[in-house]
Amino acid sequence: MININKARLKHLLAIVTIGVLSLCMFACSPKSQNTAETGLSPNTETTVESSTYSQIDANTDYHSFANPSDAIVKHIDLDLTADFTQKQLIGTATLTFELVNSNAKQLVLDTRNLDIKGVTSNGQTVNYVLKPADENLGSALHIDVDTNMSEVTIEYATSPSASGVQWLTPAQTAGKKHPFLFTQAQAIHARSFIPLQDSPQVRVTYNATIRTPNELIAVMSAANEPNTPRDGVYEFIMPQPIPSYLIALAIGDLEFKAMGERTGVYAEPSVLDSAALEFEDTESMLIVTEEKYGDYSWDRYDLLILPPSFPFGGMENPRLSFITPTVIAGDKSLVALIAHELAHSWSGNTITNATWRDLWLNEGFTTYLTYRIMEIIYGTDRFNMEAVLGYQDLLADIESLPSQDQIMAIDLRGRNPDDVFSNIPYEKGALFLREIEQKIGRDNFDKFLLQYFEDFAFQSITTDDFVAYLDKTLLAQYPDALDKERVAKWIFEPGIPEGAPIPESDAFDNIDTKRTAWLQQDKVAGSIDTSNWTVHEWLYFLNNMPEQLSDEQLTQLDDAFSLTQSKNNEIAHSWLLIAVKNEYKPAYDRLYSYLTSIGRNKLVKPLYRELSKTSEGKAFAKKAFDEAKPGYHPLTVRANEGFVE
Ligand code: BES
Ligand code: ZN
Repeated sequence: MININKARLKHLLAIVTIGVLSLCMFACSPKSQNTAETGLSPNTETTVESSTYSQIDANTDYHSFANPSDAIVKHIDLDLTADFTQKQLIGTATLTFELVNSNAKQLVLDTRNLDIKGVTSNGQTVNYVLKPADENLGSALHIDVDTNMSEVTIEYATSPSASGVQWLTPAQTAGKKHPFLFTQAQAIHARSFIPLQDSPQVRVTYNATIRTPNELIAVMSAANEPNTPRDGVYEFIMPQPIPSYLIALAIGDLEFKAMGERTGVYAEPSVLDSAALEFEDTESMLIVTEEKYGDYSWDRYDLLILPPSFPFGGMENPRLSFITPTVIAGDKSLVALIAHELAHSWSGNTITNATWRDLWLNEGFTTYLTYRIMEIIYGTDRFNMEAVLGYQDLLADIESLPSQDQIMAIDLRGRNPDDVFSNIPYEKGALFLREIEQKIGRDNFDKFLLQYFEDFAFQSITTDDFVAYLDKTLLAQYPDALDKERVAKWIFEPGIPEGAPIPESDAFDNIDTKRTAWLQQDKVAGSIDTSNWTVHEWLYFLNNMPEQLSDEQLTQLDDAFSLTQSKNNEIAHSWLLIAVKNEYKPAYDRLYSYLTSIGRNKLVKPLYRELSKTSEGKAFAKKAFDEAKPGYHPLTVRANEGFVE
């Protein structure tokens, strides 16, 4: 057990014990109908007011207006031109659908800020109504359909400020010569660039023709042709059905380099070689994951390296994960991100959360798989360190989040999923699975996962479906090791259940000893032997410093270890956060350039939040934010603008 965790853990247990959320949410929720079997669910439009009074319907996607139980879209044909001058995607989406309910009169789609120019079916004009916009959900598009129709074509253009598309100027790219475009659809932004049923309960195959300026290449979450000639017209086929949040497009001055038989990387030319080297273990990751959890379903696994404004670390777009360049550290220290996005090929892309309440089914399983992949490829010491760091992130969130947001099956009614991003679905989900693994044995749990991935492949399931499945499988097989109440506690209650498996690392115990000696002035910083420290050890050393450090202490650390100049973006982040907390001014130039050159929300948001706590800090933050804003993704703008107001 690590010293620093002990105090935090006590605090945490106190929270858990006083957590008074009753089990009623679990026990009283309406009997779930198996979405995995039907693929469908009733959909009601719930407002914030009614949500506070009513029970959640586990099968309802509260973040879509679509009516898949009346008419369900099965395939999409896109023909889009990327106009970099107007910052618009312009063209058509043809949706092939099945009338599930023969009395249904309308196909209801999700849209956000789309300019709808007309709707036709086989050349005939079709009536439609675009409803007024809801702030979080956008505008429902009601299209009249009848039993003779099986497809509609919507002619439209996206808005230059579409929430799911970022248009970058040449200056915002690595090469500085060509513009760049990328989409980010998860959770509910696909509707800002395609009119569709934007619910993870609906899976579609798609074909696309993408027209670009001649010198650029387009890539999608589909079959890509690495040696395609640059002629401005690119064709894509996605033969496996995927949920809308996995539809993705990027356009830029891209080149391809193979890393293995089934893996490769797309990036701007100046980034290509360093990315291919950094991520050269991707092929091995793919092989070991297949060995444990079943065949890879998606043919190839390639990476696309985005410009630094990409708002996430990574996004698991099938066949082509989108990756931030901020993890190219030169030493593979941050490649857990690749293991994570790859693991989603099983947990998330083949078995998908049916609603955003069930996100933990995607992220918790993926985080668990990430740890397992990392342990196999990089060994137990590294795995232990990463697990402790993940656990500490979780503890920090549990200390700061209101109790209802510490629940894995979170109530998101009336809320924007973007505003509720935390470590809960990730690390709490993974810890829950780790506990099951430890109670029934690793081999048995691996067998279960293999079967789970097979049983639900290409389906979308709710938390309730998962609980029912667990009931029939592991709970029945291992009644002495597992019980229903404990499962419910993990999934439907805040905090971390008492007795959860706490990650530990011997290497970190050693770091604690050294930090303590330094803080007690038994040692000067320059005499700490850090020659063998990995990035993880540095992160642990920094992240567990006391809140307040003196100028002398900070100067000593910086002089000894050049932390302000760290080239590792995660170490720089941890150090800059300490600098802001203690107003250590020598780091502020770096802080400014960090905030204005990186748009990854996880790295900038804690810095803005901390800066906003003092008026001087806020003024500094505002200056950086105003300069960076034209280059930030809409998600990063939205997440941080409140800190500089
Ligand atoms: N699918 C997520 C990103 C995401 C989640 C986008 C929810 C929108 C809504 C992706 O797989 C992810 O989890 N990325 C993490 C990486 C990680 C935990 C290693 C990130 O971007 O930080
Ligand atoms: Zn993820």
